[in-house]
Amino acid sequence: MAYLIGIDVGTTGTKTLLIDEGGNLMASALYEYPMYTPRPLWAEQDPEDWWQATVSGLREVLEKSGVKPQEIAGLGLTGQMHGMVLLDAEGNVLRRCIMWNDQRTAKQCQWIMDTVGRERFLELAMNPALPGFTAPKIIWTRENEPEVYSRVEKVLLPKDYIRYRLTGVYATEVSDASGTVLLDVRRRRWSEEILEKLDIPPEWMPRCLESPEISGYVTAEASKLTGLPEGLPVAGGGGDQAAGAVGTGIVEPGLASVILGTSGVVFAYTEEPRRDPQGRLHTFCHAVPGKWHVMGVTLAAGGSFRWFRDTLGLEEKDIATLMGQDPYELLTREAAEAPIGAGGLLFLPYLSGERTPYPDPNARGAFIGLTLRHDKRHLVRAVLEGVAYSLRDSVELFRELGIPLKQGRAGGGGARSPFWRQMVADVFNMELVTVNVTDSAAFGAALLAGVGTGIYSTVPEACRTTIRVVERTEPLEAAKYEPYYAVYRSLYQALKPAFDRLTALE
Ligand code: XUL
Repeated sequence: MAYLIGIDVGTTGTKTLLIDEGGNLMASALYEYPMYTPRPLWAEQDPEDWWQATVSGLREVLEKSGVKPQEIAGLGLTGQMHGMVLLDAEGNVLRRCIMWNDQRTAKQCQWIMDTVGRERFLELAMNPALPGFTAPKIIWTRENEPEVYSRVEKVLLPKDYIRYRLTGVYATEVSDASGTVLLDVRRRRWSEEILEKLDIPPEWMPRCLESPEISGYVTAEASKLTGLPEGLPVAGGGGDQAAGAVGTGIVEPGLASVILGTSGVVFAYTEEPRRDPQGRLHTFCHAVPGKWHVMGVTLAAGGSFRWFRDTLGLEEKDIATLMGQDPYELLTREAAEAPIGAGGLLFLPYLSGERTPYPDPNARGAFIGLTLRHDKRHLVRAVLEGVAYSLRDSVELFRELGIPLKQGRAGGGGARSPFWRQMVADVFNMELVTVNVTDSAAFGAALLAGVGTGIYSTVPEACRTTIRVVERTEPLEAAKYEPYYAVYRSLYQALKPAFDRLTALE
């Protein structure tokens, strides 16, 4: 029996999984770390924290599973996308990582689109430059931290920094590289043209592989720290969405993953690169070699629910702590007591700006339609519905592009709630299933390592061997949500001038 390891360098913590080749979970570990917000809309993390969490996680899964290190065939990496890790000539980190949910670079995005030319940029990168993406962060550093910029020798994505610490190799792979907007997404290699026009030295970019390819081998030093065998192959892996899609089996047409994590994502497999002409969806390389995907991102999905818990749900939080229960469950039970449509109350989840379908860092959250008869039950239901409507906006864009969708596969913390799953199935009017995998990104990364080391012959074969549907949720009340969704859709445009004016006041 061979074993595989997947590491997911996430936003709240690093998850490490050890599975056998049949996909059975042998052990898992989670180590958390802080996110710093030195200014409103900024989000940073210390790469050293990820490394410490990785070392602790690896030691823990090796010890808990009892698996002999020599029986491990390979390791795959995944993680939060779009982060910028800058290294100097000795491989030292030059500043904290600017993360995917950081919104400081609106000005640099505009400059990038103007400098390359909007149409040409969309042709090459297949996506507009958005504030969360990596390229504008590099330009921001050039303009605001020239001393740091002058010492840069390498730019890495979060999981690729962990690869560097494990193997000493500078490498990435096409799915995560797509989210830098420095990749020629159609040709699956760095775009010399974009790099040249933005004046970013091409030698700063790591080698770019297909996701299952072996990028390097665990060094003697990393072996001593982690307990992994020296020379263990480390596969390219994938950005958390692409690896998560592999880990839920989104490797054929008609399937989409629906992730209710901190951010919410709808992700569909495509055989060819398909692009929304207005650049509202992301078109990235898939972790399946030679394939692509489209995805829409709601920045604050579970993040909106967490905000609610930490502001208006403090009472539930206290009660839950006393009763040893999950505060989200208490809040969801309250939501279930309000009717569909939350008594005419709508919530816009744009708490940290938005990406899809409104790539707008100025967008804000809102409750619309409050009356004296609303109470907390309506408020919390409105939050859950607002997130579902926002994800439906992405599904509508897929439909406009003629991408067929038969089934959604739910994942992320929010997908554990049958109530929220039913709501999303109804709002999408689509079957939503869950699979036998919980930590899909780390699991997908482990499967990619299995393909890279020859345990499985292809990514779809790895998925067929290990992933099964366990629960199906059919839409029951789709029609009832429709009129509320129609009103929801009209709200962003109506409120946009107010969002811009509020931003200008700060
Ligand atoms: C995808 C995205 C998030 C992050 C954090 O584009 O921004 O999914 O990768 O998980």
